[in-house]
Amino acid sequence: MEVEHKAYARVGLLGNPSDVYGGRAVSFAVAGLWATVRLRPSDELLVQPHPRHDLVAFPSLTALVDRLEGGGYYGGVRLLLAICKVFHSHCRRNGIALDDKNFTLSYDTNIPRQAGLSGSSAIVCAALSCLLDFYNVRDKIRVEVRPNLILDAEKELGIVAGLQDRVAQVYGGLVYMDFSQEHMDKLGHGIYTPLDVNLLPPLYLIYAENPSDSGKVHSSVRQRWFDGDQFIISSMKEVAQQAYDGHNALLQKNYTDLARLMNRNFDLRRQMFGDDALGALNIKMVEVARSVGAASKFTGSGGAVVALCPDGDAQAELLKKVCQEAGFVVELIQVAPSVLTEEELASLSDHH
Ligand SMILES: *[C@@H]1O[C@H](CO)[C@@H](O)[C@H](O)[C@H]1NC(C)=O
Ligand SMILES: *[C@@H]1O[C@H](CO)[C@@H](O)[C@H](O)[C@H]1NC(C)=O
Repeated sequence: MEVEHKAYARVGLLGNPSDVYGGRAVSFAVAGLWATVRLRPSDELLVQPHPRHDLVAFPSLTALVDRLEGGGYYGGVRLLLAICKVFHSHCRRNGIALDDKNFTLSYDTNIPRQAGLSGSSAIVCAALSCLLDFYNVRDKIRVEVRPNLILDAEKELGIVAGLQDRVAQVYGGLVYMDFSQEHMDKLGHGIYTPLDVNLLPPLYLIYAENPSDSGKVHSSVRQRWFDGDQFIISSMKEVAQQAYDGHNALLQKNYTDLARLMNRNFDLRRQMFGDDALGALNIKMVEVARSVGAASKFTGSGGAVVALCPDGDAQAELLKKVCQEAGFVVELIQVAPSVLTEEELASLSDHH
């Protein structure tokens, strides 16, 4: 039986980056941007390189360099390998028996690279979903635990990240997440509450076609957090509070308040991380959106921006115009629906 699963790019609407610091977040999955992974039974076990993203043959040295500068060193093969390993060890540790059978994994993706849209974890998430079906263990690995497995696979590869993106991708739709230390300690995961996607106002995704300065300077925020830096700790608390307040604003469809919270979220990130770490181009995207009164912030840690036009359609037209003039891609976001099965959705409430 062949299986195929999609996982979507995610937009962190509020609360990032506090998810990595015991905070809260509101995130959603974007319909048009996805990674897809296909698993088919085969005689041998094979992880198939992508014909473009994992290319190792080139027509010339210049072509090789162009490819690396545009797409980086890593394709998706390592991600598939890592989730296979993590899935296997999780099953072994938890006494989940796996049939002895081989498969071929392949993937594709249209999520822009380095755009803060969580393209890597989308590949991992889709692959995990395929493995769950192929080995018929969907009911043995709870939905709440799956983001941890995805994160573990990425940690294997040295990727530093939090759970937020993986939760948005495992659930699909719109999710409010609480990563408070007490939940993490007691449950081993956060508390994740799916929300009705119809609560969201029209939102816009802005990104640069050719990101040149995506803010690669290493920031000291993590170290300062561990060192007990009071400014970082209180700012992260406030960012987490914004996610809580924002989820209430969404429930009341109070988009004026949502806009205020989004702007404040970005401003706090900027104060904590500093402009060098954020990157000039990323800051420009936020500022261009704000020049017409739109609320704007990063979707993740930079590369793409999410914008809200609290004054409606005329403002949205202006937003499109100024973004295009500045050379940015701007699109109305379609939210991806939940990707869980009915049984899985029903099982969620049982565990809270
Ligand atoms: C899986 O593939 C290997 C060859 O790569 C083969 O030796 C092994 O028997 C296969 N396992 C099964 C269960 O078919
Ligand atoms: C929206 O939220 C703000 C701030 O909390 C509040 O002052 C305002 O009255 C709310 N608007 C509506 C329509 O509820």
